[in-house]
Amino acid sequence: MERKWWHGKTAYQIYPKSFCDTNGDGIGDLPGVLSRLDYLKELGVDIIWLSPIYCSPLADQGYDISDYYGIDPRFGTMEDLDRLIAEAKKRDMYIVMDLVINHCSDEHEWFKAACADPDGPYGRFFYIRDWHEGEPLPCNWRSYFGGPCWDLLPGHTDKIYLHVFHKKQPDLNWENPMLRRELYRMINWWLEKGLAGFRIDAIINIKKLLPFRDFPADRADGLCSVDRMLEEAKGVGDLLKELADNTFRPHDAFTVGEVFNEKPEELPDFIGDNGCFSSMFDFSAHLLNRTGNGWYDQAPVTPEQYKNAVLGAQARVAEVGFLSNIIENHDEPRGVSYYLPPEGRSEAGKKLLGGVSFMLRGLPFLYQGQEIGMENVVRTDISQVDDISSLDQYQVALEAGLTPDEALAAVNRFSRDNARTPFQWDDSENAGFTAGTPWLPVNPNYKAINLAEQRNRPDSIYSFYRALIRLRNHPDYAETVVYGATEPYMQEIRSLMAYFRRSDEKTLLVLGNFRDEVLTVPLPGDVKTVLINNLKEYSAEGNRAALAPWQFLVLEMEG
Ligand code: GLC
Ligand code: CA
Repeated sequence: MERKWWHGKTAYQIYPKSFCDTNGDGIGDLPGVLSRLDYLKELGVDIIWLSPIYCSPLADQGYDISDYYGIDPRFGTMEDLDRLIAEAKKRDMYIVMDLVINHCSDEHEWFKAACADPDGPYGRFFYIRDWHEGEPLPCNWRSYFGGPCWDLLPGHTDKIYLHVFHKKQPDLNWENPMLRRELYRMINWWLEKGLAGFRIDAIINIKKLLPFRDFPADRADGLCSVDRMLEEAKGVGDLLKELADNTFRPHDAFTVGEVFNEKPEELPDFIGDNGCFSSMFDFSAHLLNRTGNGWYDQAPVTPEQYKNAVLGAQARVAEVGFLSNIIENHDEPRGVSYYLPPEGRSEAGKKLLGGVSFMLRGLPFLYQGQEIGMENVVRTDISQVDDISSLDQYQVALEAGLTPDEALAAVNRFSRDNARTPFQWDDSENAGFTAGTPWLPVNPNYKAINLAEQRNRPDSIYSFYRALIRLRNHPDYAETVVYGATEPYMQEIRSLMAYFRRSDEKTLLVLGNFRDEVLTVPLPGDVKTVLINNLKEYSAEGNRAALAPWQFLVLEMEG
């Protein structure tokens, strides 16, 4: 495998709206990011991914862009961003932005022009069809945020347009070469500005199954999941190749794709040596137990399921490329609240989960607040929920016959708001996030869980993540941690998650005990050093390690 500049890096996702507010309007901003750059450097971060800060009505929190060339004034100015890129560079850090090109906002000038003249050039930037009241829609796909993915074109009674997400996110027509050229021009403009690359949003959705057609309904609403269409749509690879050839490749940009539903044969085209992305997120654990009915019908993920899913993903890509490993992002509940059983949600358990994910082969992506163990938030009424996806899932649960309390419980478990509450900097009012009223209330647990309390505490979660990053960067270990093969160890022991990382020079053994009792594990040889331990003690007898409850270890093995 060809070596790339980004292979050994550690990445960090910022959700700007909730990171740090400097002007008291309750919304995090770019000067806020700038003010915390030294903090991120201290943690050990190299690559920063900013969730969208482009001009946007924020119907889907910035994933609905009304101007690809502008910074939304709520987040700051283009000068702020230029300064951020320059200051990052001074610190050997890289800025990566979100690239949202499956759809734009209905407030983008392209869409406005399409509404004004559906038969003109901008009409062909979207999927617009004739339709009359009473007629069937062109297809029965259900948009990801609920309801049919067709809506009346604003200003018209006989035309409809396609949106696979929210109705304020019209899909762009990637079959149109003019549209593609416009997007490439925009991407290159950003790369020439000094961005290191992009996280690429919902990218598999750009290829639509044409002509549109129905699939058997999968719920009582008579609609079917868009995912059903994606299974049938062929040819996304050609679009991605053209995209990469015209933009990312000439700039040697780092790109990470948001890919949920790759077909096994597509992996080399996506993340192989000549793939169109540098990397893609491993969502194998996040997809566990999804039923198609919705959140209310989704069972909790057990540690054993988690282990088998991510080790399976490691095996699938071993000979192909690099995954980007996460436990959470802005679309997921907090990993520690989701993957750990209640009795494991201690500092030890949080380090354990972070550790087994971080030590995998691939690029570790931390999500803001993960480094201090931020948790899900409990809403007591649906009116406190912001996320459009949660509001839809609440209705879905009610329609399936759940009580409002049960529906709210499902929302609390899965809501995207869980990860979107403001960063907990300290124990002052609003966790030090803002001097004003935060756009989304701070998690009330901020007095106990905050950075100030952890920053100088040697056994804090924060210190633990720093130690993991130091190990990844250590000249003696980097080769093994970055490039070493992942080889599962004793996978049949249910509550144990263990794997080797092996290079020609070294063998590391990663061990994690996901239960509330001591677990005795046979060791495959002699231990040379304990490199990382989430507890104070390490106990072994002969060739058996006795792992305390929720213990996590990285051992260097002899020879
Ligand atoms: C991606 C984003 C998510 C957004 C969706 C539509 O999944 O991560 O936040 O809602 O795409 O852009
Ligand atoms: Ca602000």
